[in-house]
Amino acid sequence: MKLQDSVIAITGGGQGLGRAMSEYLAAKGARVALIDLAQDKLDESAEACRAAGSEAKTYVCNVAKEEDVERTFQAIIADFGQLNGLINNAGILRDGLMVKFKDGKLDKRMELSQWQSVIDVNLTGVFLCGREAATRMIENGDQGAIINIASISRAGNMGQSNYSAAKAGVSALVPVWAKELARYGIRCMGIAPGFIETEMTASMKPEALEKMTAGIPLKRMGKPEEIASAAAFIFENDYVSGRMIEVDGALRL
Ligand SMILES: NC(=O)c1ccc[n+]([C@@H]2O[C@H](COP(=O)([O-])OP(=O)(O)OC[C@H]3O[C@@H](n4cnc5c(N)ncnc54)[C@H](O)[C@@H]3O)[C@@H](O)[C@H]2O)c1
Repeated sequence: MKLQDSVIAITGGGQGLGRAMSEYLAAKGARVALIDLAQDKLDESAEACRAAGSEAKTYVCNVAKEEDVERTFQAIIADFGQLNGLINNAGILRDGLMVKFKDGKLDKRMELSQWQSVIDVNLTGVFLCGREAATRMIENGDQGAIINIASISRAGNMGQSNYSAAKAGVSALVPVWAKELARYGIRCMGIAPGFIETEMTASMKPEALEKMTAGIPLKRMGKPEEIASAAAFIFENDYVSGRMIEVDGALRL
């Protein structure tokens, strides 16, 4: 697929990896539909995409809410007249051990709300946006690709029952959607980033960040552009589908 003049929707497009991917694709001529929770962040990101040389429109939407997602994808088709791709990137962290005992006594557990909030955004949100994007693309006769952003944590990371489960889930959806949507000319791929320099990782404790970087064979965190170039490759190569690309500096959990 040619990125020039294609229309790509990016969830969580207001900051971090979502913004980096939006700017990168805009610089390659893609028209971008940026989806996020807050208008101010969206406005900044859209401005950066326009400066990179393309058209950008913004949509305030909670990806975990079915009515928001339906309204957003209808609006994208109405605004752009086509849709050629989606990057399911919006995600949150609510880390904690499933159970923690101190001196033989129960200290903390992962609350059901902590579990559910991550499943709602990182897994259900991906399902809702994927379903809606595919529906509108097929209805409109548009071909293209859906990319699910997973994580190295999909292999199972301590303190991340909720996040690891959601990321394993969105990775499992990749071959399912690749098989189901191939007949409509829609491919599906996943990207599993390692630790990348964004607001999400900046919120980690410095000691934890240092320890983590030391364990990466390439001895540094990844850059958002390195994830963005993997996304561009997926859109541009029409024979990749149903697989994960791991961009993690050779780190294995
Ligand atoms: N940064 C990393 O090292 C890293 C590593 C592996 C995977 N990832 C994944 O990459 C994706 C982006 O991560 P990031 O580091 O850029 O995070 P980030 O926190 O910097 O950005 C996430 C964006 O998603 C938006 N968002 C959150 N909940 C939303 C909702 N319900 N509806 C709509 N938008 C919502 C936020 O407002 C924010 O703009 C996430 O799925 C994350 O799990 C990141």
